[in-house]
Amino acid sequence: MNDIQKLLEEKRAKARLGGGQKRIDSQHAKGKLTARERLELLFDEGTFEEWDMFVEHRCVDFGMADNRIPGDGVVTGYGMINGRLAFSFSQDFTVFGGALSETHAEKICKVMDQAMKAGAPVIGLNDSGGARIQEGVASLGGYADVFQKNVLASGVIPQISMIMGPCAGGAVYSPAMTDFIFMVKDSSYMFVTGPEVVKTVTHEEVTAEELGGALTHTTRSGVADLAFENDVEAILMLRRFFNYLPLNNREKPPVRPSGDPAGRLDMSLDTLVPDNANKPYDIKELIHKVVDDGDFFELQPDYAANIVIGLGRMEGQTVGIVANNPLVLAGCLDIKSGIKAARFVRFCDAFNIPVITFVDVPGFMPGTSQEYGGIIKHGAKLLYAYAECTVPKVTVITRKAYGGAYDVMSSKHLRGDVNFAWPNAEIAVMGAKGAVEIIFREDKGDPEKLAAREAEYKARFANPFVAGARGFIDDVIAPHETRKRICRSLAMLRHKKLENPWRKHGNIPL
Ligand code: HXC
Repeated sequence: MNDIQKLLEEKRAKARLGGGQKRIDSQHAKGKLTARERLELLFDEGTFEEWDMFVEHRCVDFGMADNRIPGDGVVTGYGMINGRLAFSFSQDFTVFGGALSETHAEKICKVMDQAMKAGAPVIGLNDSGGARIQEGVASLGGYADVFQKNVLASGVIPQISMIMGPCAGGAVYSPAMTDFIFMVKDSSYMFVTGPEVVKTVTHEEVTAEELGGALTHTTRSGVADLAFENDVEAILMLRRFFNYLPLNNREKPPVRPSGDPAGRLDMSLDTLVPDNANKPYDIKELIHKVVDDGDFFELQPDYAANIVIGLGRMEGQTVGIVANNPLVLAGCLDIKSGIKAARFVRFCDAFNIPVITFVDVPGFMPGTSQEYGGIIKHGAKLLYAYAECTVPKVTVITRKAYGGAYDVMSSKHLRGDVNFAWPNAEIAVMGAKGAVEIIFREDKGDPEKLAAREAEYKARFANPFVAGARGFIDDVIAPHETRKRICRSLAMLRHKKLENPWRKHGNIPL
């Protein structure tokens, strides 16, 4: 090896060592992988091309002139995930705690710019103590540069954040701007202000884990989409998730051929919905039985569980699924579920992913806490998202579709392409009991008469045929043929073209 090559190898070896063996050992002792180990797992073997390995910070304050580490706390580049291109930055906690300097931010911006030009997703592996304290405002500027790029990339290329360590202060806003946030249990946390500041300002005593751990954000705040047990599981699941996504907003999602026949019937679905309309059942059973090979990648399963969202495939094509779940809050729409589903529908729409909606919804959740919390505005988000969505939309009403919630859940009126109902579906303004109590108030003292009225109302309206007579439902289908009918609809819609009127942007009720 000639001298210059030797020098290069030495320089590379130094950069690969990051903050040194001691800090690498300490990272391992916390059960965490290093930035490079994570990238090795994320990308197909031998495909990762690293950039800017020799970048160093320019700070001279606080003794930093003599403390430079090549790479400056973030490993950036691109590679293949199951043969498809992706860009990534992986913060190196062993180098100044992964803190973001001006040059660290420049490295992130560089891969984001290139990802936009190449039309491929960006995956951020976050593990950072936040702004590089020695750099002050230069670091804040770096964050803002990243935020700006996140926003411009939104809806153009998928952006995924994996939180694998600290992520605090304004630093949380870059992941917040990305499409999905995943976290690792026990080793990651996100908060705008940490426990110490919280204690000073609000006198609340709370641990970092309680304030912003993976459990908190996947169950209480809804900030994160999923939590994983450890770094390895997190990255392997991220690779699986990536397989569903298109590379950018001009491409269709990849098709993964499946041996699962499009015409597969499932007779067990005929008895899924209980005879008693007030009895719950698990809508996830339907989802698993309808998608290819029962493979459903659910997002936010433990947050607003009254609505289910996630990705699956039909005849190999990625589909987004939104479904009311009668098991939780009877499947009512409320503030949290409205926001959860609206953001998901918009993601699907931005990235050419057809949306399948399973409807069993008794209406919007009543009560002061919902009204005071602004359900009018937040429920409108879901309505807005469905109404502006131009990707193929297939809807199946399995039981109740009452009131405004009927309209919202991808109804024909919101440009639903194919709207099916199962034979026992009830598409009405409200349930029969509530309806007769209002329109036959004068019979209130006569339970027998009221019961007769209720039966009459039920016979007249609690079925799919009134909506069918108006063409609001395209067909009433047997539950067992649901997969077949959805597959046919999606095949028919494969080249669907629909455009919204030109505008700078709409004004979704935020
Ligand atoms: C520079 C930092 C750093 C930072 C950590 N380090 N955070 N260096 N800037 N922000 C360094 C430490 O000095 C230490 O260096 C090494 O990283 C590891 O840190 P430890 O404290 O030993 O690790 P640990 O005990 O695991 O604690 C991690 C931590 C803690 C919780 C992140 O380091 C911490 O609280 N750091 C400060 C966090 C913070 O206040 N950041 C600014 C937030 S404001 P050595 O040499 O000893 O290994 C912000 C604004 C963003 O981020 C605004 C955007 C708009």
